[in-house]
Amino acid sequence: MIPQEFIDEVLSRTDIVEIIEPRVALKKSGQNYSGLCPFHNEKSPSFSVSQDKQFYYCFGCQASGRALKFLMEHDRMDFRSAVEFLAQRVGMEVPDDRQVDRGASERRKSIYDVLEKSTEFFKEQLKSHEKRDRAVGYLKGRGLTGEIARDFGLGYAPPGWDNLMKKLATTNADRQLLIDSGMLTDNRDEDKTYDRFRDRIMFPIRDLRGRTIAFGGRVLDADAKPKYLNSPETPVFHKGRELYGLYEARKRVRRLERLVVVEGYMDVVALAQHGVGYSVATLGTATSTEHLARLFRIVPQVIFCFDGDAAGSNAAWKALLNTLPAMEDGCTAKFMFVPEGDDPDSLIRKEGQEKFEARLQKASGLTEFFFNHLSEGLNLDAAEDRAALSKKAVPLIETIPEGVFKELLINELSQKTGLDMERLVGATGLDRDVPPPDAPPEDYGSEMSEPESPQRSLKLSRIGEHATAILLRQPDVANLLDESDLAKLDGVPEWQMLVELVTWVHQAQDASPMLLLSHYHDTPYFGDLRRLAEQDPMLSKDQLAGEFLDTLRKMLHDSDLQQKQKVIEMLTRKPLSELSPEERQMLANYRREQAQN
Ligand code: UTP
Ligand code: MN
Repeated sequence: MIPQEFIDEVLSRTDIVEIIEPRVALKKSGQNYSGLCPFHNEKSPSFSVSQDKQFYYCFGCQASGRALKFLMEHDRMDFRSAVEFLAQRVGMEVPDDRQVDRGASERRKSIYDVLEKSTEFFKEQLKSHEKRDRAVGYLKGRGLTGEIARDFGLGYAPPGWDNLMKKLATTNADRQLLIDSGMLTDNRDEDKTYDRFRDRIMFPIRDLRGRTIAFGGRVLDADAKPKYLNSPETPVFHKGRELYGLYEARKRVRRLERLVVVEGYMDVVALAQHGVGYSVATLGTATSTEHLARLFRIVPQVIFCFDGDAAGSNAAWKALLNTLPAMEDGCTAKFMFVPEGDDPDSLIRKEGQEKFEARLQKASGLTEFFFNHLSEGLNLDAAEDRAALSKKAVPLIETIPEGVFKELLINELSQKTGLDMERLVGATGLDRDVPPPDAPPEDYGSEMSEPESPQRSLKLSRIGEHATAILLRQPDVANLLDESDLAKLDGVPEWQMLVELVTWVHQAQDASPMLLLSHYHDTPYFGDLRRLAEQDPMLSKDQLAGEFLDTLRKMLHDSDLQQKQKVIEMLTRKPLSELSPEERQMLANYRREQAQN
């Protein structure tokens, strides 16, 4: 989480024109700048940038937003990278929860730098080294074109102990930096350092900004060992959270809607070569919850593509277990198994894109795989086997975040077992006791109503207003929410009106914006509603639904924080001796977090 204050400060120091100008040719026209819209195809300019408002808007396709959104949409950066990018430009550093000191950040910079130079060196060797034919021949033999090699930045580490060292280390400090970057192997005993990667095809592993953070190197001949060598952990490379091919996928595919998770580097590259440009690989580790959380921040659907043998099936089950805690509403995960004897690379080379994608299409859903796996060897006609199923399933279901998907699995389980779902997952439910609203609903939207923390309530109600404005424009977005979502939203006074509106739409037959407004005509809400109905969220019909859900997600997140804050306040007021061990732990964690900030 990056503090909102920080983002505001970065944006206030940023000029949106400077961000857009290098990417879109702009002409000054009146107060604004205009140009050809980068988000849709057009011959005459309808894309406009307002320097005053620090906002862009396209009259053709309704794309709109501020500098941050532009980078996310245009350069396809994720949120954090876009903030980092903007921050760096204006000489600010994103506060890190690990509180990196200045020296460490300088050091990281030098490491990125040396890794970039190494990438260039390996690429250069693939073009010009006297033994390049061997490497090029190998890549060709695996069906790769020069274009793909270029897109993935593939290179060649030539045979020999010190090619890279000679090229990049003129001083001892340089050499130390190469060691810290994982590029040299440091043999303390004999005081000898040498190139870690020798006579290997080099796969740069890049972060979302495209910076090389590590390498994988593959041997050229079949018997050399190990087949793949990876960079060690370094200050810029943490194997357990990185995914090979993510940067490339975001560059290749204009609108990523799903990502395929495979096991190997070559699988990713071969899939891209054959038109499936949206795959990533973990780096020789199991797929972690952190991996999944990252993926789900980028796409709503992840398809695991594993070998059809026992090992692949085990890996898939492990992946499923780590996926469950990441299954926020709106996310889906699927599982596809490659026929035994093949891997994604060999399969797509044999079958081509179309057949491969048809297989992806037919992948089993998480629910299906979940129950198939757990029911293996059980006979669900027998009561004790049904009990056994529920015994295995319940603890796993409990790891899923509250939401529709969890409820779905619980339902499915209770159908399969005939057991009552309240009893199945008795202890997991959210605390849905709604605290009495401490402000009457009439105060909605009035910034005067909460003098204690005007900033916070302003923010909350502004975001609530945004959601309401969308709802008024397109009432059927209310149907994206169900009772359990509403239960979570309820209880926050500022959102009272939104909850009421959603409930009304749920009950109404055909809730047009007009009908909604007229229904509230004689209520204290009406003034606010009319004002909001006039606000144009400047989004296309398709975007409205997504934006509505995003906004609610953000609101719930904020309310969780507030909730937590309240609990902490209460705990601080109690004498220590009255706290339970869990409460003490919670307080201790909170204090530690505070100390680090
Ligand atoms: P595989 O052995 O399945 O390799 O390892 P592959 O991707 O099919 O490789 P090719 O087709 O023979 O080139 C899968 C992944 O496991 C990691 C690598 O990330 C590799 O891509 N691995 C494998 C290692 O890290 N080291 C090894 O020695 C082998
Ligand atoms: Mn392979």
